[in-house]
Amino acid sequence: MKNQSQWKTSTGFILASAGSAIGLGAMWKFPYMAGVYGGGAFLLMFLIFTLLVGLPLLIMEFTVGKMGRTYTTKIYEKLTARKWLNIIGWNGNLAVFILFAFYSVIGGWIIIYLFRVLIQLISFNSASLNKINFDHIIANPWLTILGQGVFILLTMIIVMLGVEQGLEKASKFMMPLLFICLIVIVIKSLSLHGAMSGVRYILQPRLEDISIKGILFALGQSFFTLSLGTTGMITYASYASKEMTIKTSAISIVIMNIFVSVLAGLAIFPAISAFGYKPTEGPGLLFKVLPSVFEQMSFGTFIYFIFLILFLFAALTSSISLLELNVSNFTKNDNTKRKKVAIVASILVFLLSIPATLSFSSLSFIHFGAGTIFDNMDFLVSNILMPLGALGTTLVVGYLLKVDVLKQFFGNDRFKFFLPWYLLIKFVLPIIIIIIFIAQFF
Ligand code: PHE
Repeated sequence: MKNQSQWKTSTGFILASAGSAIGLGAMWKFPYMAGVYGGGAFLLMFLIFTLLVGLPLLIMEFTVGKMGRTYTTKIYEKLTARKWLNIIGWNGNLAVFILFAFYSVIGGWIIIYLFRVLIQLISFNSASLNKINFDHIIANPWLTILGQGVFILLTMIIVMLGVEQGLEKASKFMMPLLFICLIVIVIKSLSLHGAMSGVRYILQPRLEDISIKGILFALGQSFFTLSLGTTGMITYASYASKEMTIKTSAISIVIMNIFVSVLAGLAIFPAISAFGYKPTEGPGLLFKVLPSVFEQMSFGTFIYFIFLILFLFAALTSSISLLELNVSNFTKNDNTKRKKVAIVASILVFLLSIPATLSFSSLSFIHFGAGTIFDNMDFLVSNILMPLGALGTTLVVGYLLKVDVLKQFFGNDRFKFFLPWYLLIKFVLPIIIIIIFIAQFF
């Protein structure tokens, strides 16, 4: 099914790439990172990086995909006639492989919560939603492994059957529904007693909260939410029709991502201050805090259930892009191998995801580098492999591709900022990425 022109319309392409970008990064990871690295200060750094670094890089990845129109472990050779540069594609492939493994841990938590809430709903059980005890759930290795197994299986089935397009079409109404649901949660959160100190925490940047680590993680967060440096976006752009508008697509994805991240922050932090949770709770933050908010709503259990379905949907449209990248690289776009590659890659990802999940239970005693095994996997992807991949592509685009060809693919629509974009990619962004990359080793 997949060939080099999968999406006939520009909307199809935007839906798919927005689906890939908007997922756990904005909703789960953003509030958890902001809670650990200074609230408003983190949001400010994240906004600066997303607009000044993320947006130009996203435009760059779309341009490269549109120019190269092939899978990403070949595209660099095709564009530059230098085979060794395909290593940038392999770096991206490795990144999404590890990313999928720890992503599925959170996907698994969503599935477990979904079942718990469903059971409560159909048995008309009016017990408090807070009875769904997060610490209890993640301490159960078998349950969490089962949850993430189901998440990987769902992704695999969608990719194997090649029904991603159906899912992308569904995102036309699922995404707006998710936005509406988030807005409902935000309104409830804001009405809680003591909410204002949480609002101040996330919206007011306090300079003393800016730290080197916060800066590093804010950049990593921009990479993560926009799927940058993994070549995932290059792959999607390589499938798109020639008419796709690079800049309009990139700008709308960036805006949606910021919107969802801020909404997630406004949903969580007022509730943290109202209910006395700790912002530095870590990866479990969203799962611990949200039940208390739904608890306060009329029809809370039902709305929570709907929210979890939409949340799972957003996570799946991202995870299919993670698996899709592996499939396109290992099948070399030969669809007869699609099923086999999807199955083998999913089994390998599942094996790798087990130590990630166990970092919250039997292997929680293992601490090194960035923290637990899970933290290290995230760090390796968001702070090492993604920036390295993006750096490699900026250098290829800035120094090896012909400016006039680039300009032609960049397009000449209403946004005519080719020169500033090109200068950023060629001179500024590589230096910023290198400085921040090196800084994390000190
Ligand atoms: N951007 C996705 C998210 O925020 C994660 C992702 C990264 C997806 C890289 C594809 C490639 O959830």
